Amino acid sequence: MNNPVTSSPPPITEIPLFSRGKVRDVYDLGDTLLMVATDRLSAFDVVLPTPIPDKGKILTQLSVFWFNHLGVPSHFLSADLKDLPASLDRHRDYLRGRFMLVKKAKRFDVECVARGYLVGSGWKDYLATESVCGHALPPGLRLSCKLEPPLFTPAAKNDIGHDENIDFKTMAAMVGGADAERLRDLTLEIYSRARSFALQKGVIIADTKFEFGVVDGQTILIDEVLTPDSSRFWPADGYAEGREQDSFDKQYVRDYLNTLDWGKTYPGPELPAEVVKNTRRKYLEAFALLTGKEFRE
Ligand SMILES: Nc1ncnc2c1ncn2[C@@H]1O[C@H](COP(=O)(O)OP(=O)(O)OP(=O)(O)O)[C@@H](O)[C@H]1O
Ligand SMILES: [Mg+2]
Repeated sequence: MNNPVTSSPPPITEIPLFSRGKVRDVYDLGDTLLMVATDRLSAFDVVLPTPIPDKGKILTQLSVFWFNHLGVPSHFLSADLKDLPASLDRHRDYLRGRFMLVKKAKRFDVECVARGYLVGSGWKDYLATESVCGHALPPGLRLSCKLEPPLFTPAAKNDIGHDENIDFKTMAAMVGGADAERLRDLTLEIYSRARSFALQKGVIIADTKFEFGVVDGQTILIDEVLTPDSSRFWPADGYAEGREQDSFDKQYVRDYLNTLDWGKTYPGPELPAEVVKNTRRKYLEAFALLTGKEFRE
């Protein structure tokens, strides 16, 4: 699959590229990484040609908010311009607000997903099998219903193509039983705390994805956390079971793309100005509700 967006040259050339994801450009600083969130938006695993202005900054600042709020061991070191290496001085304007310096971790190649509501691929699994990733559920559940307790539904990270839902046994075979249990417990604990906090702010976190890695023998939270790209955020006041929900996340763009005659392979379609504006507004709303602050560039 050719990705014309990430095959363009990286904007920073002073330090080596560590990896180029769909959304983030990651640079190697030795024991640490410079993670730069771009304004790229990916949907159905395709990076769209139209950026969403400030999206990378919103994602970065929301992640930083959560790292500070959660206080769990994580890769986060700094998002302060004064900690940038001097060799990157000429990039300060571009990097302001959209970068994090983090500890380089040995990543577990598993997406640690917590689901607190029955929706998306979980709902599809449930309709087909009355279970979600190996968790048997009672009959008669409705779309978007709350799952109590939340479910841990891991996915194997595939370098090429889509990530693949796996059951806990398969995960244990991949990473080892003790680590699988640790990642599951951390995922559910962090999600449950975030879910309660967000609800007080009027946001339902329907599900979310965490990544973990190891630094100096310690398992830590890495990547972005609890953003509209890694989670489903719903406004709590419009919530009802039995239907799809409005959302503050990428679902709006996915819904728009589903109205097009597009095969969900590269190249993705340009987004109309109206869709860009509405998407940006949804990301900003989520940011303001959760952090209690207006986003400032
Ligand atoms: N502390 C860390 N140490 C090592 N790798 C990290 C760390 N934090 C995040 N990463 C990795 O950096 C990349 C961030 O880029 P991005 O999220 O854009 O990738 P992606 O397109 O989602 O691809 P992937 O499927 O690899 O997550 C991810 O591959 C993520 O796993
Ligand atoms: Mg990612």
